[in-house]
Amino acid sequence: MPTVLVIDDEPNILRSLSSALTRRGYDVLTAAAGAEGLQKLSATVDAVLLDVRLPDFDGLKILKRIREKYPQVGVLMISGHATIEEAVQAVKLGAHDFLEKPLSLEKVLIVLENLLKLRRLEAEVDLWRTRAGEGGPLIGQSAPMKALLSEINRAAPTDSRVLITGANGTGKELVARMIWAGSKRREHDFLAVNCAAIPEELIESELFGHEKGSFTGAAGNKTGKFQQAHHGTLFLDEIGDMSLKTQAKVLRVLEDSLVTPVGGAQAMKVDVRIIAATNKDLPAEIQTGRFREDLLYRLNVIPLHIPPLCERKADIPPLVDYFLRLTADKLGRTPKTINAGAVELLAAYDFPGNVRELRNVIERLVIMAEGRVITPADVLRWLPQVGAENQVLPLREAADDFEREYIQKTLDDCGNNVTKAAAQLGLERAHLYKKMKALGMKTER
Ligand SMILES: Nc1ncnc2c1ncn2[C@@H]1O[C@H](COP(=O)(O)OP(=O)(O)OP(=O)(O)O)[C@@H](O)[C@H]1O
Ligand SMILES: [Mg+2]
Repeated sequence: MPTVLVIDDEPNILRSLSSALTRRGYDVLTAAAGAEGLQKLSATVDAVLLDVRLPDFDGLKILKRIREKYPQVGVLMISGHATIEEAVQAVKLGAHDFLEKPLSLEKVLIVLENLLKLRRLEAEVDLWRTRAGEGGPLIGQSAPMKALLSEINRAAPTDSRVLITGANGTGKELVARMIWAGSKRREHDFLAVNCAAIPEELIESELFGHEKGSFTGAAGNKTGKFQQAHHGTLFLDEIGDMSLKTQAKVLRVLEDSLVTPVGGAQAMKVDVRIIAATNKDLPAEIQTGRFREDLLYRLNVIPLHIPPLCERKADIPPLVDYFLRLTADKLGRTPKTINAGAVELLAAYDFPGNVRELRNVIERLVIMAEGRVITPADVLRWLPQVGAENQVLPLREAADDFEREYIQKTLDDCGNNVTKAAAQLGLERAHLYKKMKALGMKTER
């Protein structure tokens, strides 16, 4: 049952509220003064009934204290001689309601019940938000993440198209949702279509809808995602995996905002903001003829790039903290802690699966590590790649350094002619390009 703390200096009120609430099944704590009330306050209290005038403290001051320390606790103010100003101030400071003496027990119980119901719903919404991957803060304190955050804040309130690029698990969908949440379109839907996950035969019907009987299996009319997202935001995920045929149709919709269902004759006007994302290098896909250049220009009004986690290691410690708390919430346990050595080991690892991999690793550690504190031994045991990488790293780095120098010297000797240099090195030209890219060398001629 919920716990209620009653803070009031009138013994009669304490007694009557206490017995009424206990009869309703609440756990009741009482305090006859402000200091005692603050002492009895803890995270297990769900609501506080608080007198405005107390012998030792101004009730509004206590209200402020409660809101700062325990923002999840609901507060109902009680007063015998309330002025309107006081009531307004209390609500401004975050009180949920104001009850006047003499108290009607009936009213107290109803208002309290409503307050607790509201708190429960809020907690549930938070939980669902996290589960749905919605919102959720973008954690990161590295320079590139700070820059990205400020770019998101500038791009979000506009209607401009955004193209988000970044490797797997870097947070592209999270960024897309933040942009939607920061726009006035948040009143309407955010719909996501994973262009890589839908079979080619179905993607057009998924995007534009279809009319009954327009193809085998088209039993009824279907509304496409573009139409469903009317006034809202459509997230075209993995756009680099869309076929050229579908790209052509999407291009047309982006040009005139008209959507025609498969097998339909009537085009419909839609008002949709497009956010696209890909882990592919679209200019390279254009070079090889797998992506339309005109579509890239249409989508790429505001480009946002999320660097891989290994290029922003300063983000690892705050992400670790965040995921420790998130995992504890998910499992309904108190959060484990991690010691500095273990964080250091994690930060030495390159996380090819980026933030998603880190999130999974933390969940694994929270569940599998035996102690309350995660240690370097736990990390080595449950993420053995860390150890392997640490040993091999110096050798690999040395080899990379050598290759980089050797290639650069050959290029210099050949007057920067890549074809000649490749021939001298006994490599295909394309292979040399790939190698140089992998080594982080400039590849433009
Ligand atoms: N900076 C961050 N702060 C907090 N959580 C993050 C951050 N970046 C990513 N995440 C979390 O990591 C997971 C992967 O993120 P997301 O799905 O957005 O990545 P993605 O780039 O779309 O990946 P993919 O290319 O594999 O689809 C999600 O659970 C997301 O909430
Ligand atoms: Mg994604």
